[in-house]
Amino acid sequence: MATINRNYDKLGGGYLFSEITRRTKAFQEKHPSIMLLRLGIGNTTQSLTPTVIKGLQSGVEKLADAKTYTGYGDERGDIRLRFAFANWYKERGINLTTSEIFISDGAKPDTANIQSIFGQNCVVAVSDPAYPVYVDTAIIGGRKIVYMPCIKDNGFIPSLPKGKVDIIYICSPNNPTGAVVTKKQLQAFVDYAIKYKAVIVFDAAYSEYITDKNLPKSIYEIPGAKKCAIEISSFSKWAGFTGVRLGWTVVPIDLVVEGSEKGKVNSLWNRRQITMFNGASNIAQEGGLAVLSEKGQKESKELISYYMKNAAIIKKGFSKIGLQVFGGENAPYIWLKTPQKMSSWDFFDKLLNEAHVVGTPGVGFGPQGEGYFRLSAFGNREQIEKAIKSIQENLKL
Ligand SMILES: Cc1ncc(COP(=O)(O)O)c(C=O)c1O
Repeated sequence: MATINRNYDKLGGGYLFSEITRRTKAFQEKHPSIMLLRLGIGNTTQSLTPTVIKGLQSGVEKLADAKTYTGYGDERGDIRLRFAFANWYKERGINLTTSEIFISDGAKPDTANIQSIFGQNCVVAVSDPAYPVYVDTAIIGGRKIVYMPCIKDNGFIPSLPKGKVDIIYICSPNNPTGAVVTKKQLQAFVDYAIKYKAVIVFDAAYSEYITDKNLPKSIYEIPGAKKCAIEISSFSKWAGFTGVRLGWTVVPIDLVVEGSEKGKVNSLWNRRQITMFNGASNIAQEGGLAVLSEKGQKESKELISYYMKNAAIIKKGFSKIGLQVFGGENAPYIWLKTPQKMSSWDFFDKLLNEAHVVGTPGVGFGPQGEGYFRLSAFGNREQIEKAIKSIQENLKL
């Protein structure tokens, strides 16, 4: 007799984005002539850069000739791309071997699937608020969750868990708060993880948005991190690969957890990928190689500057009308305190009805997000400028 995994019944049901769609649709049906302005999308909107397009095209052309055609590849990723990453990390003073780098089809699947190589009884610590995948995956796996509140008083950076936890998710720059951990704050987590033989899953999907040289882009900038941290990252927000799909995960050989020798966690992730993943698309990987080229990196920097200028416009626009805004520096998200202690959803309705602007209620990312609102820099400039103008002219505070 087959049964179902009842843990799925415990999930929140993807309430946040479906509810945003429902309320937005209802407004549009009532006011069909009003053009809505979107400040909520976490999806990229700008085209791929010329060097990346060339890289992807070369990938397609290789498939057109039997001499250069490739089918299934190495599940861990094209060795050329893994070498390119080892060099990329080396330029940042981080030494990794190609066997420690796993190419993926994006950060989301890996942040979720990584839990499967750890014991069933592992306690998972997540920030509150957080990118919902960490919590949902822990629920599906039936694991106990400990929340680390990220509030104004701690600068939206989680404090160390009080007791002993086993898997700690840290996302920096953070979605949704836009907060970025300092080296000192990250060192405290690394020291904790080594002490308790816990593992840190460091989600660095927005690392390329950091321009402040004092802030860590990779957890491996922190002494001891190779013993306790897995880094997961992505081309999605770095180079506009949200639809192309490509990412990478680093599992150091030195990483040890309770009862495992050096290399064991790395080999488990390798085993998992061999069984359940057929490797990233060969075309996407050619695109990834192009991103890592000198010209590709320069173009991606320009793309990021475009989004960060959007972030500055949003931040300035909301500050000007007297609202409290956080993040938006070294991060593409702005975390807004709702005025007059309004709930996140009440502010959503107010913004929609008065300014015709759609954002994301902070409470959708966890209880501590109540009373906050997430704004995203990933829209196009014209829309963002219109949205800010409309807010300044029409929002009644
Ligand atoms: C914190 C965080 N991690 C991971 C992802 C997913 O990245 P990818 O597109 O590489 O799956 C996102 C996407 O929004 C994100 O915000």
